[in-house]
Amino acid sequence: MTEENKSDSQSTMIEHLLFYVNGKEVIERHAEPDWTLLWYLRNKLCLTGSKLGCGEGGCGACTVMISRCIDRESGKVEHRTINACLAPLCSVDGCHVITVEGLGSVNKSNIHPIQSRLTELFGSQCGFCTPGMVMSLYGTITTAKTPQPTLQDIEEALDGNLCRCTGYRPILDAVKTFASDIKKLPTGEPCATTSTTLDKCILFEKQDSIVSNHIDFPAKLQSYAPQSIHIRGSSMDWFRPTSLKEVLQLRRTYPGDASKFVFGNTRVQMERQMNVMKFPRLIALTHVEELQKLSRIHDTLCLGAGITFSRLKSQLIEWVDDKINDGGICEALLNQLRYFASTQIRNVASLGGNIITASPISDINPVLQAANAILELHHADTNVVRQIPLRDFFLGARRISMDENEVLVTIHIPLPDSSVKYFLRSYKQARRRDDSKGIVSAGFQVQLEQSNSSDSQWQVAFACFSFGGMGSTTVMAKIAQQNIIGLPWTRSTMNKTCEWILNELPLDETSLGGQPEYRRTLMQSFLFKFYTYICCELRQTTIDSTDNSIAYPYRRPISHAQQTIPKCPQSQKVVGTSLLHQSGYLQATGEANYVDDIPSLTNTLHAAFVLSTKPNARIKHIDIEAASQVPGFVSFVTHTDVPGSNQTGPIVPDEEIFVSSVAPCIGAVIGLVVCESEQAAYKAANLVQIEYELLTPTILTIEDAIMHESYFGNEICLQQGDIDKSLAEAEHKVEGTLMIGGQEHFYLEPNCCMVIPSMDDNEITMYLSTQSVSAPQELTARALGRDISRIKCHNKRVGGAFGGKETRPIPLCIGIAVAAVKVGRPVRFNLDRHTDISITGHRHPFKVEYKVGFTANGNLLALDIQLWNNGGCSLDYSISIMEHAMLHTGNCYRFPNIRIRGRSCKTHLPSNTALRGFGGPQGILACENIIEHIASYLKMDPFNIRQLNLFKEGDTTHYGQILEHWNVPRILNEIITSSDLVTRQKQVDEFNRTNIYRKRGISIIPTKFGIGFLLRFLNQAGALVHIYKDGSVLVSHGGIEMGQGLNTKMIAIAAEVLGCGVHRIRISETASDKVPNASSTGGSVSSDLNGMAVKHACEQLRERLNTLIVDNNAEISWENLVTQAYFSRLDLCAHGFHATPNMFDYDLSQNRAQYNYFTQGAAVSEVELDTLTGDWHILRVDILMDVGTSLNPNIDIGQIEGAFMQGVGLFTMEELIWGDHEQQKWIKPGFLFSRGPDTYKIPSFSDVPLDFRVSLLSESSNPRAIYSSKGIGEPPITLASSVFFALKQACMAYRKQQGFSDYFTLQSPATVERLRMACSDEFTNRACLTDHQNFQPRGSY
Ligand SMILES: Cc1cc2nc3c(=O)[nH]c(=O)nc-3n(C[C@H](O)[C@H](O)[C@H](O)COP(=O)(O)OP(=O)(O)OC[C@H]3O[C@@H](n4cnc5c(N)ncnc54)[C@H](O)[C@@H]3O)c2cc1C
Ligand code: FES
Ligand code: FES
Repeated sequence: MTEENKSDSQSTMIEHLLFYVNGKEVIERHAEPDWTLLWYLRNKLCLTGSKLGCGEGGCGACTVMISRCIDRESGKVEHRTINACLAPLCSVDGCHVITVEGLGSVNKSNIHPIQSRLTELFGSQCGFCTPGMVMSLYGTITTAKTPQPTLQDIEEALDGNLCRCTGYRPILDAVKTFASDIKKLPTGEPCATTSTTLDKCILFEKQDSIVSNHIDFPAKLQSYAPQSIHIRGSSMDWFRPTSLKEVLQLRRTYPGDASKFVFGNTRVQMERQMNVMKFPRLIALTHVEELQKLSRIHDTLCLGAGITFSRLKSQLIEWVDDKINDGGICEALLNQLRYFASTQIRNVASLGGNIITASPISDINPVLQAANAILELHHADTNVVRQIPLRDFFLGARRISMDENEVLVTIHIPLPDSSVKYFLRSYKQARRRDDSKGIVSAGFQVQLEQSNSSDSQWQVAFACFSFGGMGSTTVMAKIAQQNIIGLPWTRSTMNKTCEWILNELPLDETSLGGQPEYRRTLMQSFLFKFYTYICCELRQTTIDSTDNSIAYPYRRPISHAQQTIPKCPQSQKVVGTSLLHQSGYLQATGEANYVDDIPSLTNTLHAAFVLSTKPNARIKHIDIEAASQVPGFVSFVTHTDVPGSNQTGPIVPDEEIFVSSVAPCIGAVIGLVVCESEQAAYKAANLVQIEYELLTPTILTIEDAIMHESYFGNEICLQQGDIDKSLAEAEHKVEGTLMIGGQEHFYLEPNCCMVIPSMDDNEITMYLSTQSVSAPQELTARALGRDISRIKCHNKRVGGAFGGKETRPIPLCIGIAVAAVKVGRPVRFNLDRHTDISITGHRHPFKVEYKVGFTANGNLLALDIQLWNNGGCSLDYSISIMEHAMLHTGNCYRFPNIRIRGRSCKTHLPSNTALRGFGGPQGILACENIIEHIASYLKMDPFNIRQLNLFKEGDTTHYGQILEHWNVPRILNEIITSSDLVTRQKQVDEFNRTNIYRKRGISIIPTKFGIGFLLRFLNQAGALVHIYKDGSVLVSHGGIEMGQGLNTKMIAIAAEVLGCGVHRIRISETASDKVPNASSTGGSVSSDLNGMAVKHACEQLRERLNTLIVDNNAEISWENLVTQAYFSRLDLCAHGFHATPNMFDYDLSQNRAQYNYFTQGAAVSEVELDTLTGDWHILRVDILMDVGTSLNPNIDIGQIEGAFMQGVGLFTMEELIWGDHEQQKWIKPGFLFSRGPDTYKIPSFSDVPLDFRVSLLSESSNPRAIYSSKGIGEPPITLASSVFFALKQACMAYRKQQGFSDYFTLQSPATVERLRMACSDEFTNRACLTDHQNFQPRGSY
């Protein structure tokens, strides 16, 4: 811009930022407009408490609170929690930013009650989500209208925060201790061993709930008058005008592409991150008074384009409370905002931004269209003010009827005349309730008038049917709207309307977003709900009263829970008590360090991977010319730089660190760019040009692999009895196929690593977030051609792993080590979420085919079953996972004749890998599905079949293991009573009899989960324990703390054996130079193995110390004893070692395998399903788990609840979707669509069971593990299949009512789509081209 055309206001613009962080003033004169607040906090202010989990506003790990004075006269301050990963630093000018560090600190001994309660109620496991949770809760408390928030406020407050570890229950309990209305919580039956949500609230009620560590709003900001700002960055400028006049002036100066308006930045940031668009100037509209209107004037609602959804929501609540006749407009908008984005997004995102984004899946635009919203646009060049109905605004895919120099100022919504029978409603169905965009959303308006022909009938005078998710933009069914006019408001008219909209808004298998049949069904379901609603409002008697349940939205009740813990053995002082998570407080204050929080050495470089964008493609040429021009570019590293072997792999070296010739899959690492900064590295990596030659055939699915016979190894077969004969002779037989989808680990901490090379004796130091330090150490040594002893691997804690950090990150870390050696400088990387999900593998999808024979009363006779899994492009653990699945097929039941065959498919996808359960969940789901199939065939209760065929003590499994300490029969008996199963089953039947469109289901599932590695050599562990002169103890072991509480259990064991206070014992990190050759942490055995090693070391030390005690009765403190030991020259360091006895290598060809023992349990789950949409809630879950004698009951309960909820995700909600040749044609073959929290949905807060009861089995012992305990990390995931089968029961009840009594297959995951489509009815019939009662929605397997 030349000096001449600068406006007056621009020349007086402020050129720096002023804000406060945690009470301290910051004046930033060198801000870059592309810095996010999160980046600034973490990298410039070294406040690493706020975490980068996704960078797209979808996980909440980065949540901070910002406060701003919004009325200088009254001093009113507005507080908002926001996603720091989306907020531009420039947007916080004039604000007070409060981060988790501002609330409290362990080191300063001023922990905030939110932080302490989360810790003390076990609401933090890996801790990566915890700072974000703390801040969201702090925001809820700070912004509550009453001094304390209500339970309802709390239940909705955390909709923008994800946790993958806890299952949310303990977080909700901790948060509810701050509620004002705790008396509304159920009391439960008084019992010494049971603790309810209310008990916990009462426990803390006496404590000071007032937020003590209050940070005052800075006085300087109280009088801060926002001024126009111009921040000049190196690649972008930021303007913040303060009036509409100034906005228009700026827009005139920088027209069209030269500048971009921005408000909440929630869309613009995505566009920039995805590198779709580059904007030289951003013009922030946040401080423009004219965009802030929010009023109801006579017959119109005036909504400023710059009002945030949170402000809109608060105002709508007030307007709805006023009970002024607005035709339901405010309620319809409010209804859409209940499950709209998240609190953090609603706090910043603007209504105008949503409209202008013109997203085809906007949830708000259909309601606005239905309400006939009018947009007021101001033109910068001409100053013309134009009004345009929203109904005419959307022209096509992201095309709107707006000149690029126009600004949206106000949205006007005309209120209906009270004499008109006006009805308006909104609808939405998403993959998940919280923070999920609609698959289809809708806004409907009709106006009715009395029919001329009959006084008692209403006919349609006007209609608007607007949809999101049904085209390339928000669309109206204009023909249907026209056709319906003059018709009576009857069911028959509704049916016709359904036909019209289906014709008018067609979708097919190539339509973007997929799910065409479901989306076509949803449109009709919503219409039918709307029809029912109006009938109810008109009190039309033609409507069955049972339909009322779908006329109004379901209101989710407040959730609550209870845990029952048997008494701890009296002989133990520490082990068996619920010692708090070792680093819980540090995690809650943000002081716990993860790899990405470690400060860089001064000469550290940053790496970004160059990944293949094609599957099965030969690399013909790599062009790094453009990349090497990026300022800060240092090197491009490829396979030619690997000094040792480029081949790697956890079992066989069948994969490459860097592709040398053929990229097997999209996401294969071709090379990596090393640059001076992270930003430069990403930029340069994007500029590397690769030329490919596509090879054939490209094998993507299990079906493709079967067709091309593409497998790893030979078929594996486990066989017992004469299967062919017994099947041939069986009285009854059924057969079927089940597909089970994969699962993303979705650990909250993305993969990262830092490697520091040294010229001093060729040492390499690696800081890792992997599940092992030994495997990366060994494989890096092989790649670098060095001795293992030269590689030192360190790991302090991991922000969640679940199997995903066992093998898949290792090649990436090796690549970084190769780069560090090449350039001779430290190198680090932190994967962005999309890349992480895309390249690091998933749980294996399975295909299952079975034939089963049985008697008329349900006795199992023979099972012939074949399993295939999709292993991806390298072996990794695919065969081991298949074997584990085969060993768990059969679950708790005796099949006298059984043949299980398994094959791992080799495909052109990233290599799939371990995930909690390691094939066990798939094996158990397959088995339980067979039981349900038999039950349906015999018309029996599936539980009767389960009980009839249950193993007994001393029975032998199909792989020859004798069942000892067999507790499942007892567990089932106890849980049937405690869950009141029989009565509740009757209540479910009664509910289903009296409700048409809401159905319930209840299911009970047991589990028998094998613990112990099947290869003998893996069952070993070491530990090293140092006692220092002051009595402090440092324990090192080979396991990794990744949230599961391993270190806490190890500390308890050490304290128990040494006899010192727990506070004297520390675990600093896991390091390969302390304990060598450790097995990976996984398989639920880490406490068993490492615990025994720690115990062994501590026993030696205690024995040595005991030699000093001459008088057992004399009191001697631990410290004095240690001092004496030192002066007596006793060795205060001991190495412990454990090798699990009586283990042998499995041999499936001989039907021989042995687990160390079985963790057992059962769950009863009850659900309620909306059969018209597929939406559902878990009403109640009871779990009874045999953990032996628990090492730490609350930590074990945390594992049970967390695993259960992860299983709920696996079997119901989490869907990996990638392009293939047959099923998902709308995505590029081999490309993963579900790459982030936006598209891949893990359970969130509103998916928690409304009543969640977990009990540990009393009087259970286990002679085969430490202190008689049992491993618990994985087994409970299988129990979530009870939710899957309860949902299937609910579908079955609906199908029966609709006349479809035959057995039907429900593939896993039972997504809202699959559930809805399984509820066959007239709507699915219209939506499916053929055979709707057997229709199976597409899936990626
Ligand atoms: C995690 C997440 C969850 C979400 N969930 C949902 C959901 O459930 N349902 C749903 O419908 N949406 C959802 N969204 C989308 C979200 O609602 C929009 O991104 C948001 O409303 C855009 O508003 P903004 O202020 O952030 O816009 P920005 O990103 O600042 O701007 C968006 C666009 O609007 C333009 N613009 C903004 N204001 C004006 C104006 N006054 N005049 C002219 N142009 C203007 C900008 O130039 C830009 O092109 C979600 C987004 C995220 C990140
Ligand atoms: S990192 Fe910001 S929401 Fe995930
Ligand atoms: S504790 Fe929540 S993600 Fe780990």
